[in-house]
Amino acid sequence: MSAEEITQLAYLVPVALFVLGIKRLARVRTARTGNLILASGVLVAVVITLVEMGLVNYTWMVLGLAAGGTVGVITVLRASATSMPQVVARFNGFSGAAAALVGLALFWEEVVFPDAGEGAIGLMGAMAGLALAVSVVIGAATLSGSILAEAKLWGRLSRLTRVPGRGPLVVGASILTVVAMALSLSLVDVRHAALAILFLLLFSLAVGFFAVAPVGGADMPVMISLLNSVSGLAVAASGFAIGNTMLIMGGIIVGAAGLMLTQIMCVAMNRTLWSVFAGGLDEVASGEGDSYENVVGSDPEEAAMVLEAARNVVIVPGYGLAAARAQQPAADLADALAEQGVQVRFAIHPVAGRMPGHMNVVLAEANVPYDRLVEMERVNSDFPNVDLVIVVGANDVVNPAANQASGSPIAGMPILDVENARRVMVVKRSLSPGYAGIKNELFERDHCTMLFGDAKQVLEDLVREFRAGVPTP
Ligand code: TAP
Repeated sequence: MSAEEITQLAYLVPVALFVLGIKRLARVRTARTGNLILASGVLVAVVITLVEMGLVNYTWMVLGLAAGGTVGVITVLRASATSMPQVVARFNGFSGAAAALVGLALFWEEVVFPDAGEGAIGLMGAMAGLALAVSVVIGAATLSGSILAEAKLWGRLSRLTRVPGRGPLVVGASILTVVAMALSLSLVDVRHAALAILFLLLFSLAVGFFAVAPVGGADMPVMISLLNSVSGLAVAASGFAIGNTMLIMGGIIVGAAGLMLTQIMCVAMNRTLWSVFAGGLDEVASGEGDSYENVVGSDPEEAAMVLEAARNVVIVPGYGLAAARAQQPAADLADALAEQGVQVRFAIHPVAGRMPGHMNVVLAEANVPYDRLVEMERVNSDFPNVDLVIVVGANDVVNPAANQASGSPIAGMPILDVENARRVMVVKRSLSPGYAGIKNELFERDHCTMLFGDAKQVLEDLVREFRAGVPTP
């Protein structure tokens, strides 16, 4: 077996690690090890690639890994659990930048420096030339889109949702991109070809910018998932350009996984990808002015007495729990109930909060055991048997308006059917709407009571009152 064949076979190891890692990411219980497996897959892939390319100068390998690793570790250590979408956006941007740089470096190595009086297609072949140009286009568009996405998530440029004349600008930038691509691959004068590929870079950056510009901050997690998928395609294209199997396989896996996640998020939010691109949910009615009738308020002391009678309790965390950093008192409440023999579970809606897995991350911070978490599909049929549901800072994900056939912005969105439980308590500060900006008739139901206040404060008071009222085990 030749050395090249051995390397190609060796690439199957990181590919297997990627597939295994992604599979384990699908479940909360196994996500941590899944992440470790994926990281080790990347490490193995980098080492095999460097060895294959003959770059076996170990000093450079160690220095490169240390520099990249340090940037990665510092970025993640400085990030809080709630700023994970920003971190993912930045890493997507890095992938796009890397793919674009590989394309540009290859162009200079194969076309500009040799100055052989032949265009890129003549020197590299049509397929490799096209793959090179595509890696520059998608890589650069991913880079500018990701930088803008991160800025919007930090609240900077969040008002930039309306770009005057955006439609013609996107079309114009796309046409110029295609023209620059054709020129950079066909021009035989290297100075003109180099200029064309630099314009290609510029127009591609513009396409990424205009694509992300109208997307509202709250839709941004969907866009970031899509950018993640696109960054995989950019990497795969650069793999085709330099003839590297590992980049092709790794890029395609990332592209497919990102696309599936995007689709799952769109379905769970009842949004089409087109409506995310077009922007606009942020401008949907604010719902602030909606009036409520028959809303019944309560306090922690009264609520604790209701809790004492419950044997089967479900806690529904939402964005407000994360915003109030109320995960610890929520976990304490679950512990206090479990100590009394109560069956207690946390029901997780796939898009509760503002990022995929938001509630899982937040509850993991408070060490809530995985077996207390239950997914929407599994818990929904069980709500009629539940004595009490405590909704903490969630709104849209429990809004019965979603079960209407039409007429509501969230009609058709899968929700946690908490109204089917025997009793419901909602912890939130006011009757303000959630992200979708619409009224929630759950709050008016006869079996629903409101505990108004900051989620952390209310839950701490509730735990104290509950513990005071029950015998210590
Ligand atoms: P929301 O519907 O946004 O409702 C959150 C509620 O939390 C608000 O009504 C707010 O009411 C309350 N709240 C805020 N701060 C609070 C605090 N300190 N203490 C107590 N309550 C507080 O949240 P959800 O039910 O989790 O639904 C998520 C929404 O975001 C969905 O519409 C989803 O489509 C969307 N979205 C999700 C994602 C992902 S990937 N998860 C991405 C983008 C958008 P008060 O102001 O009255 O307290």
